Amino acid sequence: MLVVDAAELVTCRTTPGGARGADLDRLEVIPLGAVAIHGGRIVAVGDTATITAAYRSETVVSAAGRLVSPGLVDPHTHLVHAGSRHLEWEDLVGNRPRSIDDGIRTTFQHTAAASADVLRTRAMADLDVALHHGTTTLETKSGYGANRQVELRLLEVADSLRAHPVDVISTFFGAQVLPAEFRGRSGEFIDSVIAMLPEVAPLTEYCDVCLDPIGFSLEECTRLALAARAAGLGVRVHGDQTGHAGGAGFAADIGAASVDHLDYASEADLRKLARSSCVAVLVPGVTHHLLELVPAADGAVPAVAPKGHFPSLVAKMVELGVCIAVSTDYNPGTSPTLSMQTAMQLAARLFRLSYSQVWHMATINAAKSLGRDHDRGSLEPGKIADLVIWQVPEHGMVLNRFGTNLVDRVIKAGEVVACNPVGSAAWG
Ligand code: NIG
Ligand code: FE
Repeated sequence: MLVVDAAELVTCRTTPGGARGADLDRLEVIPLGAVAIHGGRIVAVGDTATITAAYRSETVVSAAGRLVSPGLVDPHTHLVHAGSRHLEWEDLVGNRPRSIDDGIRTTFQHTAAASADVLRTRAMADLDVALHHGTTTLETKSGYGANRQVELRLLEVADSLRAHPVDVISTFFGAQVLPAEFRGRSGEFIDSVIAMLPEVAPLTEYCDVCLDPIGFSLEECTRLALAARAAGLGVRVHGDQTGHAGGAGFAADIGAASVDHLDYASEADLRKLARSSCVAVLVPGVTHHLLELVPAADGAVPAVAPKGHFPSLVAKMVELGVCIAVSTDYNPGTSPTLSMQTAMQLAARLFRLSYSQVWHMATINAAKSLGRDHDRGSLEPGKIADLVIWQVPEHGMVLNRFGTNLVDRVIKAGEVVACNPVGSAAWG
């Protein structure tokens, strides 16, 4: 297959180790670009005249008037779950928010009541939505099963999603928050999660640990992470979401693949992260959905302290050279969106990031956080041919035109797998 005549082709190619610091702002853009694909892999990338002189194919896809980018990589979701928590909104907007951990326990109940078939049907439909919005690789965590039986069900469902064109990378998040029946016995709960590792390890690639005031202590997270590593799993961390717990420094110290959220990460911990290969995964959907940057009405004191420090915190990450990525954190409580376009648009606005920075964060850096930057996340010879053809001609327009689906077509491993039936004609 040849994809030709792209108004802009953004490769998101960057230095090994991911785009950091000034590299985040160096986005490679090829005008009138083309990609040659064979056997599901990219063979060559360049301008259309050069590529069409060197390669022939029976399948030529015109991207005239359109942007072509790598497929988006969503490095943090809680895809497999049941139920909706939209009714929590009335409390949130009325400045009476429930705690996040209580909300998670509500989803424990909804999820425990759902069969594997119901969970799988919903997850497959959700994957369709993600794909049609440009996602070609997605990480999903278990964690809404408060016990061994339901956690195994969630991981088996995640494993069965292989039939979908989106590549799904599975993470065991057995210790998301403490189930109510273990109140006061968190050490015993961590022991029970560690005891599950031999059974879950064949089904999953990572173990997520929650070093946060709503999660577990440094000692408990260390114990679980080391046991997960010994069972052959990589480590991811939910860190410092609701308060400073040292999650970012812990992630760097233990060699985690990612640390996600980071609302209250300290500068000392960010310095450690900058020296490590651990990727900081930002979750702007949460900041937006929980009204974390919106003052309370009538001068009332917001129940959750406003996080006005967010743009300067993210600027500090960039300045120090932390490898940053963006995700949806799709889940029913804090970020109910499957659209990486939305996550990218929110990251740009809420964290005051440039177009180039956000494109790197949603592609190559997200792939790096999943240990997949060797075979995806950028348009380069040898990588899997995961591409998005957009309805708009310039990469900045994907971030500028918020709130509607701007995807035209999605190509996964060299096959057109999604086509948006509605949308504007090419901009010409
Ligand atoms: O925002 N442990 C973590 N926090 C989750 C909340 C998920 C939910 O509210 O259901 C997160 O990633
Ligand atoms: Fe999360």
